[in-house]
Amino acid sequence: MDFFLTTPIYYVNDRPHIGHAYTTILCDVLARYHRLFGHKVFFLTGTDEHGAKVAKSANKKNLSETEHVDSMVVNFQNTWKELLIKEDFFIRTTMNFHKKAVQKALMELWDKGEIYEKDYEGWYCESEEVFYPEKDLIDGKTPMGNHVELIKEKNYFFKMSKYQDKLLDYIEKNPKFIMPNKRKNEILGFLKKPLGDLSISRPKSRLSWGIEIPFDTSHVTYVWFDALLNYATAVGYKQSSSNFEFEKIWPQVFHMIGKDILMTHAIYWPCMLMALDLALPKMIFAHGWWLTDTKEKMSKSKGKVISPLDLKDIIGVDGLRYFLMRDMSLGQDAQFSKELAISRVNSELSNNLGNLLSRTTTLIDKYFEAKIPKATINTQLEKCAKELAVKVKDAIIKLKPNDALEKIVSFLNKTNKYMEDIKPWKVLKEGDLKLGAECLYNSLEALRVSAILLYPVMPSKSQELLGRIGYCGEVKFEDACRWGLLKDGPVVLQEVLFPRIKE
Ligand code: MSP
Repeated sequence: MDFFLTTPIYYVNDRPHIGHAYTTILCDVLARYHRLFGHKVFFLTGTDEHGAKVAKSANKKNLSETEHVDSMVVNFQNTWKELLIKEDFFIRTTMNFHKKAVQKALMELWDKGEIYEKDYEGWYCESEEVFYPEKDLIDGKTPMGNHVELIKEKNYFFKMSKYQDKLLDYIEKNPKFIMPNKRKNEILGFLKKPLGDLSISRPKSRLSWGIEIPFDTSHVTYVWFDALLNYATAVGYKQSSSNFEFEKIWPQVFHMIGKDILMTHAIYWPCMLMALDLALPKMIFAHGWWLTDTKEKMSKSKGKVISPLDLKDIIGVDGLRYFLMRDMSLGQDAQFSKELAISRVNSELSNNLGNLLSRTTTLIDKYFEAKIPKATINTQLEKCAKELAVKVKDAIIKLKPNDALEKIVSFLNKTNKYMEDIKPWKVLKEGDLKLGAECLYNSLEALRVSAILLYPVMPSKSQELLGRIGYCGEVKFEDACRWGLLKDGPVVLQEVLFPRIKE
């Protein structure tokens, strides 16, 4: 295994919104690029189905928790299908194998003396499902501004504090463990203060919806302890029979998360892993947020959500994937609006890519009986294309999908300019078939290379484009590094690939 990529598992208390769709599409795009580069990839996503938040929404609907999660998970699975997400496994934390594996992990920690019991009083934030000590509250709220309530109860605690120095040391020795650097520094800042132990149980009298603690059946497991373990259980951890080889997959794990859940992933999780004698992730990358026009995080609790499927109905699935990848620079926040999405799709997909395809295929249809003409190669475009493939691969490895797309757009601009300069419509009308053929052939090649490189972002439209220009079968990265591959096959003239969207 070369690359084991995970998304956070989403709470099933509501339908997925653009924020959830973003992380999932981002991981799907990265996974598809790595597959295109010939790497062995495992891509995992799923749903977080226990905890107070989920129990509360079931209650509101007068449903049992099981009925509620079973009905809600379908929204995620169907949305991902419509957004062309191709995961290798979809985990639900209510799956039996996961529950059993979590209990085994708890038992191991209990047997090792890593867990103890204590009366506890603390501030709990239900929307984040996190306990905060009084000193970490700001004006009576969590650092993210969410509501907390005082809770007193007997809890089991994981001895997280004993891993503080080891974790600090690991972060310092592995500069890419937490990325981007800004987020790493936040964690380092947090670790300057003494780290407490982690409450990992809830009495059933307060919350019964969770995995039963194996050494005290009157308690259930804290939802984050259960949820974080999904990354390991999904690929076979603590199971005698699994479809996946945990030992081979685990060492390549890479977690993509939003910056809202950095602390749980960069502190709780590594400490849990150290206690369980498992390798730490290769990287935890926290991306930024999509913000509303008033610069707030788009989130359900703020009532500012846009359904990914509604936007897909307007700009198409490929348009949606393209916009989300193009308009966010990984690690930073980005502004979201329907208008921005439409304008991006119109200017770069309709005007630039789509227009180049229409012009080229229309002229080949008209002057060459819809057959790819034989022609000499334009060495300048050829050179740019070969450089482009290298640059795109490099940008993806460096986690800069927006840069990769920008480079493809600028190559398409260059090709459009080449066409404007030669004016094949004029040249062909005047009878210069040789120059006309050269221009059209090289434009087709530019379209072919671009569509191969765009394939992970726009799997459906890229495939369609490639089919129309006679590149059929498996899409291969090495073909994006070659020029002059298309041979005298047919070119299909069809309706516009990216119709302009009304603003
Ligand atoms: N269930 C936990 C995660 C457990 S992982 C072991 C959870 N779920 S969530 O449903 O709240 O999803 C949070 C994730 O959704 C974020 O980390 C991010 O990936 C994505 N996003 C939610 N809103 C977002 C934005 N406004 N912008 C970008 N991504 C956002 O937390």
